[in-house]
Amino acid sequence: MITCDSLVYQPFRPAGGELACDGVSIQSIVERAGTPTYIYSARAIREAYRDIDDAFASYPHAIHYALKANSTLAIARLLQSLGSRADANSGGEIAVAERAGFAPRDIVFTGVGKTREELEYAITRGLGTINAESAGELDRIAAIAQAHGRVARVALRVNPDIDARSHPNISTGLKTNKFGVPLQDARAVYQARRDVAALQFVGVHIHIGSQITTVDPLRRAAESLVSLALQLRDEGFALEHVDLGGGLGIAYEGRPIIQPTDYAGAVIPELRRVGLPVVLEPGRAVVGRAGALIGRIVDTKCFPDGRKFAVLDAGMTELMRPALYGSFHRIEPVVPRTGGDTAWDVVGPICESSDVFGRDRALPPLQVDDLVAILDTGAYGSAMSSNYNRHLLPAEVLVDDGKWSVIRRRQTLDDVLALES
Ligand SMILES: Cc1ncc(COP(=O)(O)O)c(C=O)c1O
Repeated sequence: MITCDSLVYQPFRPAGGELACDGVSIQSIVERAGTPTYIYSARAIREAYRDIDDAFASYPHAIHYALKANSTLAIARLLQSLGSRADANSGGEIAVAERAGFAPRDIVFTGVGKTREELEYAITRGLGTINAESAGELDRIAAIAQAHGRVARVALRVNPDIDARSHPNISTGLKTNKFGVPLQDARAVYQARRDVAALQFVGVHIHIGSQITTVDPLRRAAESLVSLALQLRDEGFALEHVDLGGGLGIAYEGRPIIQPTDYAGAVIPELRRVGLPVVLEPGRAVVGRAGALIGRIVDTKCFPDGRKFAVLDAGMTELMRPALYGSFHRIEPVVPRTGGDTAWDVVGPICESSDVFGRDRALPPLQVDDLVAILDTGAYGSAMSSNYNRHLLPAEVLVDDGKWSVIRRRQTLDDVLALES
């Protein structure tokens, strides 16, 4: 069931003795763009998107790219140009999706804790589906839709109490998590609102977590959701789709993990039981591999016990995942120096002990001013960056067909202070 990750396109590879993105010198990019900077490969995004699309080719499907993974406008536009639809998690992401060219009807709106303003916007824009998180939210949607003389297209997100076997902080389908409505309560929630004229129940929704690396939880989630869809259809609900959410992981550590074909192979037999089109909301699997964060070493130090630190100009403010989840990212010098590998702790400059990108990493000699790439950071990297310690949001660059361009300029202190008096 597990396909080798070496088949997946690797955008960051050595070329001429230094690390390049799709063959374009990273050193030459950051000479002009500065550091820290995120660099993305358009080719890697296209290939990852197509891998998912192709894997589901035998079954009616719609890919709604999960903008939360990376909603930089140019990335969103690229996905839109590939035929993707969008999954937005906030009013801000809906607005970005529309700016990127996604039609309102091609946007699903998910997420815990949607505000009245966000719901009003989503309803009046006529979004494809609002995935409601609770009975109360459905009622608020109905009231707002009625007040505007609209009918809202809705689905209910169910919580199946399935362990995604991912990191606890990114598991969302357990009964201890805040997400969705317990699966056993879902039918009653639909039935109680069957006659609400302002609601059109178009689907059912599930999302059990992110960075899922085995098929079993995904198959079981699909099985639960399809069973619910069958019951609802028997009871007369004219459903149009089942939405399996996102969650497909990537091989951060290089170990073989499931690929889109494994995922499709596991869930399509379940989907065939109901025959409804499937909505997929992948984020990480589309953009994760495509990005690297490039930082420059600003200090090195060696403690008496022999522990060596390389301190970068990028930290948890630019890439929060290691500090937040203890997540692993490969770290590589952009221009490796000759000499044997030794153990390095690669850390950021932020005043937090958790501001560590990797401990005891076997790396060649490192010196101040060397460039370092933190790989597989296209998803939940820039999107989670912050101004803590008054760090400025990093620049972002897209490499496409041998050329590169800045798709987000580096934030300036004036940008930040413009909000303050
Ligand atoms: C509802 C929903 N859909 C899709 C996603 C995207 O998940 P992933 O990036 O793991 O594919 C998330 C992320 O947590 C989510 O909460």
